[in-house]
Amino acid sequence: MSADVPPTPITDHRLPITLSFLARCYELARRGEGAVEPNPMVGAIVVQDGLVVGEGWHRKFGGPHAEVHALAHAGEAARGGTLYVSLEPCCHHGKTPPCTEAILAAGITRVVCGMRDPFPAVDGGGIAQLRAAGITCDVADDPAARELMAPYLKLLTTKRPWVIAKWAMSRDGRMANPPGESPWITGAVARAHAHVQRGKLDAIIIGAGTLASDDPLLTARPPGVRTPLRVVVASNRELPTDRRLFQTIADAPVLVAAPQEFPADCRSRLSALGAEFFTTSATARTAVLPELLTELGRRRMTNVLIEGGPRLLGDAFAQSLVDEVQVYISPRVIGGVAARAPVTDLAQLQLQSVADEQLADDHFVRGRLPNSQLPR
Ligand SMILES: NC(=O)c1ccc[n+]([C@@H]2O[C@H](COP(=O)([O-])OP(=O)(O)OC[C@H]3O[C@@H](n4cnc5c(N)ncnc54)[C@H](OP(=O)(O)O)[C@@H]3O)[C@@H](O)[C@H]2O)c1
Repeated sequence: MSADVPPTPITDHRLPITLSFLARCYELARRGEGAVEPNPMVGAIVVQDGLVVGEGWHRKFGGPHAEVHALAHAGEAARGGTLYVSLEPCCHHGKTPPCTEAILAAGITRVVCGMRDPFPAVDGGGIAQLRAAGITCDVADDPAARELMAPYLKLLTTKRPWVIAKWAMSRDGRMANPPGESPWITGAVARAHAHVQRGKLDAIIIGAGTLASDDPLLTARPPGVRTPLRVVVASNRELPTDRRLFQTIADAPVLVAAPQEFPADCRSRLSALGAEFFTTSATARTAVLPELLTELGRRRMTNVLIEGGPRLLGDAFAQSLVDEVQVYISPRVIGGVAARAPVTDLAQLQLQSVADEQLADDHFVRGRLPNSQLPR
């Protein structure tokens, strides 16, 4: 369904209060992060006489939508009230009945949504249905809603997941301590934060070099709401089969993305351990990452992380495949000429929408790439 429903940007005196009610919806929506994908994170509130009388968010993929939770929370107080919701209410029978029906049944008289839902089965249809039933329905077309929904929107429109590039580094931009010292650059609080992030992802991708030198597990510890697929990007060279990744496939799956030239005997040994293979159709090394991302999108993955090392990250940036950067920065200065930079061959990068969070002695900095795909 694609209905011709003009947006009604809220430009009058109600704008500040509308945006603050919507901001609460976005806050609620984020509680579903990791549990709802590939659905969007959605939050909703019911307001009666200027007071919030009901709140809800989409909690789990396949479960009731945010509007249903907020209306149930408000109960009879919803009658005659306004529903604020981060995304246009659905109007189709999917895994749950249409939210528009629940809104009508609850006696809501006005709906304000953060943005229209480009999902083909909705795409203006929810707004059209509500208006046809006599409900005032405003679409704020709020950039903050678009920002919240960026991974969902990217998957929907490009069929590829949102790609986060992540690394940890010293204050002077080095990614490893001198030999013989702790393998950790950042402190315990930052590392715990990174594990929480991992537990919300669909996949964590590393290069063959990181597999060989770091022998990482790439699991979320403690486990999160989602168990990410662990992915190794390989070239035409053998991978070491004794790595912990391949010894723990029963705990979390492993996918090896490799070109056709990947050695057949190594493939057999890894397959016998339970590793899955994704073989690229093109022979060029540069084809591995883009083809892998298309494959992960086909599997309806929404958020994937490239966790290094420098050469894989360099390839990802060079091919404009990255949407967001997440960097943990420790207060250490390592110095020396031998220590490597986190990204190979990166000319320069100007991040946007930068946020900086202090994690004990470390900093967590995140920002978007100017080319990050936020479709309108
Ligand atoms: N501080 C951090 O956050 C962090 C995170 C990760 C890693 N590291 C460090 O990074 C170092 C490893 O660096 P690295 O650059 O060697 O690791 P890498 O980027 O993980 O791996 C490089 C290797 O992966 C394969 N590869 C990479 N990109 C590819 C592509 N587009 N297509 C096909 N194959 C591709 C190639 O394998 P072949 O060699 O077989 O051609 C390449 O040599 C380690 O010292 C590790 O500790 C640090």
